[in-house]
Amino acid sequence: MNILILGSGGREHALAWKLKQSKRVQKIFIAPGNAGTLTVGKNLPVDSTDFQEIKTICVENLIDLVIVGSETPLVAGIVDFFHHDEVLKGINIIGPDKAGAQLEGSKAFAKIFMNSYHIPTAAHFTVDAGNIEAGIEFLHRQSSPYVLKANGLAAGKGVLILNDLAEAEKELRLMIEGKFGQASSQVVIEQFLDGIELSLFVLTDGESYKILPSAKDYKRVGEGDSGLNTGGMGAVSPVVFADQQFMQKVENQIIKPTLFGLKEQNIHYKGFIFIGLMNVNGDPYVIEYNVRLGDPEAECIIPRINSDFCELMEAAGKGTLSEVELEIDERFAVTIMLVSGGYPGEFKRGKKITGINNTKDCVVFHAGTSTDIEMEGIKTFGGRVIAVTAKDYRLEMARSKALANAEKIIFEGRYFRRDIGLDLLNYVAKN
Ligand code: AMP
Ligand code: GLY
Repeated sequence: MNILILGSGGREHALAWKLKQSKRVQKIFIAPGNAGTLTVGKNLPVDSTDFQEIKTICVENLIDLVIVGSETPLVAGIVDFFHHDEVLKGINIIGPDKAGAQLEGSKAFAKIFMNSYHIPTAAHFTVDAGNIEAGIEFLHRQSSPYVLKANGLAAGKGVLILNDLAEAEKELRLMIEGKFGQASSQVVIEQFLDGIELSLFVLTDGESYKILPSAKDYKRVGEGDSGLNTGGMGAVSPVVFADQQFMQKVENQIIKPTLFGLKEQNIHYKGFIFIGLMNVNGDPYVIEYNVRLGDPEAECIIPRINSDFCELMEAAGKGTLSEVELEIDERFAVTIMLVSGGYPGEFKRGKKITGINNTKDCVVFHAGTSTDIEMEGIKTFGGRVIAVTAKDYRLEMARSKALANAEKIIFEGRYFRRDIGLDLLNYVAKN
């Protein structure tokens, strides 16, 4: 089987790395990929939203299975493009159709969907230029902090959480006026949920599903969850407070009704559902849906999956997921993201990376890296540069292994959080 993975981050390197371990896989192509994916497959310089070019590479390389890494091509309708194309329709493509991708592409759609199927989520009100005053009334009925969300995709920046009511009112108006462009012409105002957050991943073939390992993402750039939001500075799996009782509630109150709703709305969904959850005093609430794996959560959970990943992907595509066993490694995984100094603000590119060969007892996934012929090595290319994942039966050991290995990888301006998983370790000590 030949596989094409679309994307260029740590998530896509983790997918390629895992698929490479399967005997079923012949060739892996990654478009556009990074310096890490080059070691497991062939990089193709194609943008994942250029559907015609993707068609060409699928035909030229006899691709059997396509895995879409990020939400952008899904929201743009890549799955529908494949289904409606005579040449491509026989290829399995992992991801929802355009209608299903609205779960991530439109927060207003996701809220209507959740309310239709009684899926627990924060109370909300959707505002546009026509009903701002009603939105402000809703805002006044909430208590601080106030949550404002751009309806559309805003590269992870479209959510504002504000303590002051006057500021929230002002920001609401600015958003409607185009603070985040078209993405915020509609804004979802939400009740604030006070709890602990976790990410849950489900793989579905449209009928049955497998619950993949849970993970906790560390979104803020600074230690102690301070500073600006990032794409994610690290992750830990499993999340210790997601016990069996909590997971049972998640399955009954969230996963089953979500899949029921997708079927009822004739949404074609063969792929990953990423459910952002808040645990509010033991009860789960959905904060958001994403229609893909998370990054860096993928780098953390994929190394915990023992099953043949190619078999899982094939089964999800073909609708035979119920026939496949999912085996999970019980060890903890801790992922630490090494980033360029200044990220998520301005940062420099092109810095030589050394020390990867000195790491041991961990997996190193590349994110924003590229090869450099002059330097005869690899260099930094993005804000998030490298993810280091280590596993152990004890969370404490997984954490210290990941930290020790992160320390060995060197580039100018390198920064990483040293407190990934520390909160969970403290939680374990207390409970
Ligand atoms: P989202 O893009 O919807 O995941 O929101 C980004 C982040 O904002 C989430 O990961 C949460 O940390 C926070 N957040 C979103 N909605 C709420 C809410 N209703 N209550 C509390 N925090 C929230
Ligand atoms: N780490 C969060 C995300 O991938 O959206």
